[in-house]
Amino acid sequence: MKIVVFTDLHYRTDGADLLVDPDASLAAGIEHVNKHQQDADLVVFTGDIAHTGEEQSYLDFKSRIASLTPPHALMIGNHDKREVFQQVFPEAPKDENGFVQQIIDHDDCRLILLDTLNAPPYDYPNFHFGNLCEHRLEWLRQALSSAGEKRCIIFMHHPPHETGFVSMDMIRLQNGPEFYEIVKAAGNVAHIVAGHVHRTISGSHEGIPFSIFKSTTTQMPMLFDVMDFHLETPEPPAYGIIDVRPQSVLVHTEDYGLSDLDDLRANASMQI
Ligand SMILES: [Fe+2]
Repeated sequence: MKIVVFTDLHYRTDGADLLVDPDASLAAGIEHVNKHQQDADLVVFTGDIAHTGEEQSYLDFKSRIASLTPPHALMIGNHDKREVFQQVFPEAPKDENGFVQQIIDHDDCRLILLDTLNAPPYDYPNFHFGNLCEHRLEWLRQALSSAGEKRCIIFMHHPPHETGFVSMDMIRLQNGPEFYEIVKAAGNVAHIVAGHVHRTISGSHEGIPFSIFKSTTTQMPMLFDVMDFHLETPEPPAYGIIDVRPQSVLVHTEDYGLSDLDDLRANASMQI
């Protein structure tokens, strides 16, 4: 199974005046995927679709992704407003408690998409923290225990562990230990995918490998110790590619703004 991951789109009405225009940048990413990853089974958007949760931002995003060739699945993050998102995307799957969570089964793997938004109420700064309430933890428990022989890959906006950036670590998933207790007890999670940090990060936590991808807008500068949530640098945007094979989970990132694959493919030699 091949999955493309876009994260942290941050659509907003004044986007064209920003350091990076979110719509122009995502448009370039979608064009790149349609050309070079059109065989993807799924494109997952791991949250922070709309910077301030405005309806117009979701509508703009909706028009933009209409041109995406592979099927897609949407998730929300701390910048989103669940109720507004669900108004604009009434067809988006939700769980029995109304959270934007879903299971996607494919051959021998199960994708579990979580809703880590700590709202409503949308009280600053609490809505920026990630959280999985009792209902969502129980839903995760069931999703893992009913997976049978399938390996599970969990997608969540907020990383459930520290990443080394003091500012973003403060607003990571607040109940990471409870999350990992469930994941470790299930014993069938092959990989965790997150967003939120706007940086390519990989490693493992509690023995479980994870990947975090760059945003389609601005990125987190490599300043681990600066306590400022608004740090940003216009480094090139990227999308992730997760290639699930019988014995492995391969993870790639593509800096699509720098990558001109047409010429390279046309001029490639077959010589070894
Ligand atoms: Fe975020």
